[in-house]
Amino acid sequence: MNKRLAALAPTLAGITLALAACSQSGAPGGAAGETIRIGEFASLTGKEAAFGQSSHKGTQLAIEELNATGGLLGKKIEFIYEDNRSSPGESATIAKKLITRDRVVALLGEVASGRSLEAAPIAQANKVPMISPSSTNPKVTETGDYIFRVCFTDPFQGKLLAEFARKTLKAQKVAIFSDVAAPYSVGLAQYFREPFVAGGGRVAAEEKYTGGDKDFKAQLTAIKAQHPDAILVPGYYTDVGLIVAQARQLGITAPMFGGDGWEAPELIQIAGGALEETYYSTHFSPENSDPAVQKFVAAFKARYNGETPDAMAALGYDSAMVLADAIRRAGTTESGKLRDAIAATNGFAGVTGATTLDAQRNATKPAVIITVKDGQFKYLETVTP
Ligand code: PHE
Repeated sequence: MNKRLAALAPTLAGITLALAACSQSGAPGGAAGETIRIGEFASLTGKEAAFGQSSHKGTQLAIEELNATGGLLGKKIEFIYEDNRSSPGESATIAKKLITRDRVVALLGEVASGRSLEAAPIAQANKVPMISPSSTNPKVTETGDYIFRVCFTDPFQGKLLAEFARKTLKAQKVAIFSDVAAPYSVGLAQYFREPFVAGGGRVAAEEKYTGGDKDFKAQLTAIKAQHPDAILVPGYYTDVGLIVAQARQLGITAPMFGGDGWEAPELIQIAGGALEETYYSTHFSPENSDPAVQKFVAAFKARYNGETPDAMAALGYDSAMVLADAIRRAGTTESGKLRDAIAATNGFAGVTGATTLDAQRNATKPAVIITVKDGQFKYLETVTP
């Protein structure tokens, strides 16, 4: 069976088809050059499925909109995607398949930095441009000149969290509880610590966990003993939800905060009422009244049963639109020319803000801070770089 998918096919059927086809190694069908093939690797199932699903839906919507208006360079886009099941070791294999078997002109992915870091060396070695929608760890784009991202990076996110802790939370003494298994978490802890300490703050405790752990009480008890003013948990929502719930069970009342890894409706399902006095930074708020944002929110809701898009959906959408814009400007999908066109992205109007790629192939964009009130995510403030 051939797993190439017409982007106009309904998402759910598409996912099923792609999953069913994962084990197949069919030869690419269709004469070369009839379509423009764009590949995506995403965590559609497994531990961080909320990330992959959301980002994928945004990307899919963008490709459908592009195809509905004639595609690119007079050709339809063929969107070929595969699920890495949130598992380490899958993304490099998928990237290889998409490049060598499916001959995609570019790769979109991933949300989690660790999985982008697995695929990036493959894309770089094959000179196939890769755009990560939302991986924020600096190392992702440092892999090489074919690797881009359309989001801000963790040195910016860490710094804004340090300022937020000092100014808004009025915290002098902070505890950090990070995931040693995630490059994102290790990095964000470091990029928070440096500016926080330089600004006169103190890190009173540093504890570690491994993503997927279920019992965090020993580390939380050690944190509690230091009486921090606030606790930074730079992790992903599945772990963060349990951590916040267990901290409150242990009687820890200090505010808890983190970065974009918190963002998923599942966080509220996991931690519920325990999330009062928690905050996180992210890339996008559907509450933004900008007409372009509201147009995207309406299109997303119409396409996905009333679902409200989150940061990953918005960045997934922007990653595909930035690529499409570069393909148009390049007038070709030839790898070197396409790379140069992506690198030249300047002021592209995305739903997560104007996207300009710098010499390090990163975007500089504002962040928003979200809090949880009565079991709902609530926009708090915007932080501009
Ligand atoms: N920035 C996170 C990472 O690099 C992923 C993420 C992005 C999570 C956006 C949620 C929202 O791993």
